[in-house]
Amino acid sequence: MASKIPFFNIKAENASYAKDFASELSHFLESGQFILGDAVTRFEQQYAAFCGTHYCVGTSNGLDALRLIFEGYKSLGILKDGDSVLVPAHTYIASILAVIQAGLTPVFAEPSNGFFNMDVNQVEQLTTSSVKACLVVHLYGQLVDVDMFRAYAKKHDILLIEDAAQAHGAVSKSGLMAGAVGDAAAFSFYPTKNIGALGDAGAVTTNDVNLTKAIRTIQNYGSTKKYHHDLLGFNMRLDALQARFLGLKLADYPAACKRRITIASRYLNEIKNSKILLPACDLDGSHVFHLFVVRVADRNDFMEFLISKGVGSLVHYPIPPHKQKALSEYNNHKFPLTEKYHNEVVSIPLYPSLHENEVQYIIDVLNTY
Ligand SMILES: Cc1ncc(COP(=O)(O)O)c(C=O)c1O
Repeated sequence: MASKIPFFNIKAENASYAKDFASELSHFLESGQFILGDAVTRFEQQYAAFCGTHYCVGTSNGLDALRLIFEGYKSLGILKDGDSVLVPAHTYIASILAVIQAGLTPVFAEPSNGFFNMDVNQVEQLTTSSVKACLVVHLYGQLVDVDMFRAYAKKHDILLIEDAAQAHGAVSKSGLMAGAVGDAAAFSFYPTKNIGALGDAGAVTTNDVNLTKAIRTIQNYGSTKKYHHDLLGFNMRLDALQARFLGLKLADYPAACKRRITIASRYLNEIKNSKILLPACDLDGSHVFHLFVVRVADRNDFMEFLISKGVGSLVHYPIPPHKQKALSEYNNHKFPLTEKYHNEVVSIPLYPSLHENEVQYIIDVLNTY
C-alpha cells in the first residue's frame, strides 16, 4: 500500500519551482556555459553570504566536499597521510569514508548520552598527539555544541571541520551558522536534503583563502591553467545547471526552514506517548530538522504500526559505520550508545510541503501507538 503520508514527497517539494526551473534551463542552454562559469560563481557567492563565510566552493556532492577539505589541507602540508581525525561513531558513513579515502585515520567517539551528536568530553579523552583534526557532524540538522568544540579545537591547536550535510542554515546560540563554525565545512545538496538539487551537488565553505585555492585546483584535475596539471586532482566540480537550480531554492530556504521548525515544534509539544522518546533539542534555530528522529524500544513493531496507518518512516541509520562490511577492521570496536541508538531510531515525516492536517494525523497516529 502506498503511504497516505510518504516519508518524503520529492514531487511536492519541487512542484512550485517547475516554471522557474524551466526558465533556468533555457538560460543555461543560451549561455553555452555547461561546466563552471558564472552560474557556479554566482551560487558560490550567494551560499557564502548565506553562511557568513568569505568563500564557498561548489562541489559534485557532499562526500566529495568532505574529501576535498582533507585533500586540500594535505596539499597545503597541514595534514599528512596517517594523521588521526576524531569522528562521531553515530553518523552516516560518508563522514568516515572521506577521512579514510583521504589517507587519514578515523578515531571514533560516542554521542553524548541522550543526544545524537558527538560528546566533547569523550573527544577530549581520545585526543592524542596524532590527532590533527576533529570532524563534527551536525547530525539530523542539529548543531553540535559549537562553543565547546571551538574551545576544544583551539586548546589543542587542531582543525575543526564540519560535516554540515544535514544542517543548512542552523544557527548557534552564539550566532554562528553551520558552515562558519569550524575551519572548513562540507554541505550536501542531495535531492532530499533541506536545500536539495535535482541531482548530486555539494559545497565547501571556509574563510581560508589558501584552502579555497587548493580545493579549486584539486577539484578541477589539479589544474589552474587548462591542460597544465600541478596535482593529481579529481573531477569534483559543481554542475552548472544544478548551481542555477540551487540558487532558486536558496532564495526560498529561510521560509522553508521556518516551516520545518514549526512542524517540529508541534511534534515536540503534542506527541505524548511514553513508548516514544522525542529528540532532545531546542527550537531556537540550532536544529533545522532535516530529520525528526524518535527512539522506540520495539522499532519493528512501531514501524509496522506506522505502515498500517499509512505513515511513511525510515531508519537513519540501521547499521553504524563501524559495523559495516566495508569497515571490517573496525567491526570489533564497541560503541554501546551508538549501537543502542542504531537499534532504536526512527525518522518520521517532516518536510515543508506537509499540510497541517497531515501533521495532525501523524501526531494522532503516534499518540495512539
Ligand atoms: C552526514 C552526511 N555527510 C555526508 C553526506 C554525503 O553527501 P552526498 O550524498 O551529497 O555525497 C551525507 C548525505 O548523504 C550526510 O548525511
